[in-house]
Amino acid sequence: AFEVELRSSGRTVKVAADQSVLAAVRAEVPDLPYSCEQGFCGTCRQRVLAGEVEHRDELLTDAERDDSMLLCVSRCAGERLVLDL
Ligand code: FES
Repeated sequence: AFEVELRSSGRTVKVAADQSVLAAVRAEVPDLPYSCEQGFCGTCRQRVLAGEVEHRDELLTDAERDDSMLLCVSRCAGERLVLDL
């Protein structure tokens, strides 16, 4: 498990091993955009302010991976991510 801080709202959510970041964040941000939930549409892409992302999609370019992630499939490589939400 790891934590995701939502910097703009000042809230932090825990992401369980069997849960997507998208699912965890949606509990706090119900209107979060998403669609395929499988890492190929890009709808759930959000900006990452801090933390190391474990990218599990095949969609984003290296440049996009530098500062964003797809919340439906990608995870945290450490203990904490900070999102611009
Ligand atoms: Fe489609 Fe995440 S919802 S890539």
